[in-house]
Amino acid sequence: MMSLSKHFLLCLASGVAASSDWEAVDALIEKYKFLPNVSFTAGDTTGRLHTFVKGKLDMKTQIILASSSKFPAAVAIMGAVADPAVPLTFDTRISDVFDWWSSDPKDNRSLVTLRHLLTFTSGLVSADFGSCGIKCLDTTPASHASELPIEACAVEIYEYGPWAVKPGTVWSYHSLHLQLAGAMAAKAAGMPLPDLLHKYLLDKLGMTSSHWIGNHGGVRDPNPHLAAALVSTGEDYDKMLQAVLTYKVASKELLDQAETDAYRTYPNLTTARDPKDVGLEFYGHYSMCLYYECVGQPWGPKCEKAGVHADPGYFGYWPLINRQKGYYMQLVVERHVSLPPDIIKKYNVTTAMIGALSAQCVSPLRFNLTDPVEKALGVGSSTPTPYHPLPPELQVLCAAAL
Ligand SMILES: *[C@@H]1O[C@H](CO)[C@@H](O)[C@H](O)[C@H]1NC(C)=O
Ligand SMILES: *[C@@H]1O[C@H](CO)[C@@H](O)[C@H](O)[C@H]1NC(C)=O
Ligand SMILES: *[C@@H]1O[C@H](CO)[C@@H](O)[C@H](O)[C@H]1NC(C)=O
Ligand SMILES: *[C@@H]1O[C@H](CO)[C@@H](O)[C@H](O)[C@H]1NC(C)=O
Ligand SMILES: *[C@@H]1O[C@H](CO)[C@@H](O)[C@H](O)[C@H]1NC(C)=O
Repeated sequence: MMSLSKHFLLCLASGVAASSDWEAVDALIEKYKFLPNVSFTAGDTTGRLHTFVKGKLDMKTQIILASSSKFPAAVAIMGAVADPAVPLTFDTRISDVFDWWSSDPKDNRSLVTLRHLLTFTSGLVSADFGSCGIKCLDTTPASHASELPIEACAVEIYEYGPWAVKPGTVWSYHSLHLQLAGAMAAKAAGMPLPDLLHKYLLDKLGMTSSHWIGNHGGVRDPNPHLAAALVSTGEDYDKMLQAVLTYKVASKELLDQAETDAYRTYPNLTTARDPKDVGLEFYGHYSMCLYYECVGQPWGPKCEKAGVHADPGYFGYWPLINRQKGYYMQLVVERHVSLPPDIIKKYNVTTAMIGALSAQCVSPLRFNLTDPVEKALGVGSSTPTPYHPLPPELQVLCAAAL
């Protein structure tokens, strides 16, 4: 008896979580039927502090990250920005890197900088979230898009991309901006894009089970689809989250810029008025390939102050960094959703809506985890985080998901 309570007091005194604190976290994950296969990790600046595995997806399972590929690609590009040997800053214009790119001030494209590209505000506006019809980003297996020279892909986007407005005025979420950013960084660094990804991310952080996959399975293809084609594991992504949290991938000065709300950087910024971009406001504001999290509520000072930066993906992967409280966590997920035909008919569900469900249905778990995770990490507050339930129709769809 004595020694038990003494142990308990010691734990409290040294700020170490009692193991029962993590049990509450594990129980929430265990209970959520929508995710039969999921891994979870959390940690702070001292490293990883907890791991939980449920079902058939462990920390070594290779999964396709879809949009959670975006932040790792941006981290690699930031590595080049941070390297004094590479002539590249967030304010470098793409016309300074490619001599064929217009520098005529009358041409909106001449104004595009790396900062615009990484915040998806380059002026390329599309209702599509992938290739936007550009051949060099075609994701079908029959395509040879990933085998093209990356600079040729940049030329194609320059010529045929949906350039619509001045940079810094409209946010539109799709793959073209990041592909140009990668082309620009590779050119500035004087190396093929896959080498850049290895030098500043995969090799640097020991992410040995990760690679961008090409249309035919190539893992060193010159033009990998940066925004969508990363194959990785919970183990590897955990390394990156730790490295970002502790400023090992780039200085605080650079990461502060990367984590700045794009709507602060560009005060006149608006969201593109198409269903896809309006729908993505669900997650919050955007910064450099990260959402400034503000899920299911209008953007406001509370979200900005909370300082949570997340990169949720199409299949429900949900990694995040809480800057204000100094921790990271991730739900390692690859959830493909389908719905029973009667539900599809009754609720008039479109294919796009079904696609969006994976991450939307992970969000209640992600938010319910906040308080128990913070308690276990010793950074909790006495007021519970308010719960923002999903709209009733979404709740029905998540419960019916196959
Ligand atoms: C969970 O994993 C098992 C085994 O791999 C698989 O059969 C099942 O479809 C998965 N469930 C979901 C919802 O992904
Ligand atoms: C350049 O941007 C402005 C303002 O966003 C837009 O009105 C104009 O049509 C654009 N020009 C071209 C040639 O796309
Ligand atoms: C924002 O728009 C206002 C009004 O059109 C304009 O005066 C101002 O210069 C713009 N600011 C930026 C940073 O572009
Ligand atoms: C179902 O949704 C489609 C596309 O959003 C819309 O055009 C159609 O009118 C809807 N049908 C019903 C019965 O609500
Ligand atoms: C999250 O918490 C709410 C409120 O307590 C509860 O209704 C909901 O079922 C929980 N969802 C998950 C996935 O834990």
